[in-house]
Amino acid sequence: MSDIEIRTAVPDEIPALLDFWARAAEGTSITDDAAGVTALIARDPDALLVAERDGAVAGTVIAGFDGWRCHLYRLAVDPQQRRRGVAAALLAAAEARFEALGGRRADAMVLDRNELGRQFWQGAGYHPQEQWTRWAKPLD
Ligand SMILES: CC(C)(COP(=O)(O)OP(=O)(O)OC[C@H]1O[C@@H](n2cnc3c(N)ncnc32)[C@H](O)[C@@H]1OP(=O)(O)O)[C@@H](O)C(=O)NCCC(=O)NCCS
Repeated sequence: MSDIEIRTAVPDEIPALLDFWARAAEGTSITDDAAGVTALIARDPDALLVAERDGAVAGTVIAGFDGWRCHLYRLAVDPQQRRRGVAAALLAAAEARFEALGGRRADAMVLDRNELGRQFWQGAGYHPQEQWTRWAKPLD
């Protein structure tokens, strides 16, 4: 994994990261737009992690800590770079961040039909909590 560099995202690359998610991420999120990612970086400049290999973006993850819980979002790896440890490197960096901040447990939203995602998270030691369902409401 030594050829993978993990760094934090910068505002100038937000359009490129949105393009990256369009081709590499699973599904879409309500915050997948320039305003959403700009707000994330402004609120927590260290939350959006980018993996680079040979100077190109190979993957991303959002490691969000709100002072209470540790949430992982937008784990995505370039389809040409998969199964080469990029997601594992991103997750290791995200978990290190959480631990440094005093986080006690990390969680990820995983679509039930996302078999690839389920395989990855299971292999990384994450387990579904079937007794919980996310309740949500879009805000004005
Ligand atoms: C899921 C995803 C992030 C994995 O990225 P990756 O860089 O290929 O993963 P890694 O190479 O770090 O794999 C780590 C481990 O995950 C598991 N894994 C990853 N891809 C797998 C696959 N296709 N089948 C089975 N297990 C897999 C394995 O345990 C693997 O370890 P190994 O290669 O030593 O066997 C990538 O496939 C992806 O971007 N998918 C689309 C977006 C997505 O679904 N994101 C998750 C949202 S919840």
